[in-house]
Parts: sequence; structure tokens; C-alpha cells
Amino acid sequence: MRGILTATRCKGPGMVRCFCAFAKINLYLAVLGKRDDGYHDVDTVLQSVDLSDRLIFAETRPGRLEVRCDAAGVPEGPANLVWKALALLRTRYRPATGLSVRIEKGIPVQAGLGGGSADAACALAAANRIWALGLSDDELEGYGAELGSDVPFFVRGGTRRCRGRGERTEALIPLADSLWAIVKPPWGLSTAAVFACAGAALTSHEANIRMVLGHLAKRDLGGLAGWIFNDLESAAQQLHPEVGEIKSWMTSLGVHGVVQAGSGSAWVGLCSNPRTAADLAAQGPARGWAVFLVRPVKGGWIEAAT
Ligand code: C5P
Repeated sequence: MRGILTATRCKGPGMVRCFCAFAKINLYLAVLGKRDDGYHDVDTVLQSVDLSDRLIFAETRPGRLEVRCDAAGVPEGPANLVWKALALLRTRYRPATGLSVRIEKGIPVQAGLGGGSADAACALAAANRIWALGLSDDELEGYGAELGSDVPFFVRGGTRRCRGRGERTEALIPLADSLWAIVKPPWGLSTAAVFACAGAALTSHEANIRMVLGHLAKRDLGGLAGWIFNDLESAAQQLHPEVGEIKSWMTSLGVHGVVQAGSGSAWVGLCSNPRTAADLAAQGPARGWAVFLVRPVKGGWIEAAT
């Protein structure tokens, strides 16, 4: 998928190249326990979906890095994960040019959809192309792991099982084409705050995980929706008790397998009926909730025409 929309425009100073970084949903998320380094061991399947941020890169004078974003709640400059990704490669490879990046957010922030991590992975991949570093996906994943637990996933994207703190990824059979609804309340949730409220796993997840993976392998979406789960839901509910309303509303309109997206605050579920999708889109805004209808994609990012 990557490179399909490629339009190589970066042949000299001031030339602009544009990339799209895709959001993810979790098809299950098991929290296995707390580690000595403060992180949690997880077992999750992440799926890229066609909700994206746009990152527009322009080469600039050597040594210079600039990251700008107009969206509220997204830091600019060195505090942004995109800046950190570029700084990591700049220090290691001393490229001949600097980079100026503008981020146009399409993925809601603090939603559990991985927007910041997707942007960071996209920045690694884009810099690899623009600076002609010749790094493999494995090497980019290695750099991604230094930036955040989910960043390695977004280097390749698609359908992947992620373990460890999330950074150990393996490819699965791609999810069958399908329509998913994402509902985002006006508040956001911090991943660190939600994990801090997560309790230790009380029961084994093995049987549940086997069921989800089995349905995924058979490309049986109905079966998958019956087994989808997310261990971080009760932690998020401690911080925002009203999240339960979103789940009940989505389920009442016919969405299947409604679960929290990652660490929240968005919720996601399978929309088998186009009528359900239309009802969600029509009724969500009156409740103050944004509705996004998305489909699976096979990569974490693409280079797009400018
Ligand atoms: O890795 P990342 O920086 O995205 O994680 C943000 C925070 O979420 C971490 O600082 C940690 O508190 C928490 N986290 C965790 N276990 C994970 C992933 C994240 O406790 N597997």
C-alpha cells in the first residue's frame, strides 16, 4: 500500500512532500501485568484504519528542525513526537538538509487512536525517504520503540499483534474489509493516567485471545465482534464514569462489539448495517460526540500527492 500514491516532488530546496499517517483501533487489548520499568505488559491486535493526519514536509537549511500544528492540545517544536523522531535520525545520520513539518490533524487527540504515535512513525518513514537514509522497516521500528510503545506498529501498520509493552509486533492476516464506527466525546484521556488506574489481570486471557485470533484468521467479522474486549475500560471509567453512555448508545443503534479505543476516550464498534452508520452520524453531534466511519487499511502511512 505504501508508495502507491507516491508523487516525488522533493528534488531541491523548498520542495514539499506530503504523507498521511493512519489511526489505529484495537481488536482486543489485554493488560497482563505491571513491569518493573513502570510500563505494563500487553497483548493486543492493532488495526490501521483510514482516518489520518497529514504531515507536510519541506527541506530547509542544514541542522534546522521545525514542527508546527494548529490543533488544540498538540505541542509544537521539540515537545512534539514528530520533532523527537526527526531529531533521533538527525543525530544519528547527520543529513545534508533540515526539515520543516506542518501537521494537519484529522485524528482526534487523547482518543486512544494512536495519532501521536502514527505521526512519529510517519516522520521516521518520511525522513528515511527524504534524506535517502536507506533504513529497513526493522530499523525504523527500532527507532520507533525509543519514541513510544505503539510507534513500531505504525511503521508497517495493517493488522498486527503487539506484545511486550506494545513494541514487539508481528503481522497477522489482514482484517476483512468492513465499516467501523468511532465515537469520540469532547473530553480526552491521557494514556499514562489510564494505565496508572489499570489493575492487575484477575483472570487468564488465553481463551478470549484465542477466540479473537481464530475469528480474525477465518476473516469472520461477526464472530470477531462477539469476542472483542479491552482491559482498560474500567480504568478509563474511573476517570470519566459517563463513558458507559457512549457504549449503550452505540449498541442501541446496532453497532456490534463496542469497545473502548485503546486507553480512550473514543469508543469503536463494527457497523454491519449502513443504516446504523447513518443514524450514528445523524444523532452523535446533538449529544456532543464526534462520529467517524472508517475502514481497515493495509499500511501505517502513505506518501500522498501534494
Ligand atoms: O509508550 P508511551 O510513551 O506511548 O506510553 C505512555 C504512558 O502510558 C507510559 O509512560 C506509561 O505510563 C503508560 N504505558 C504503560 N504500559 C504500556 C504502554 C504505556 O504503562 N504498555
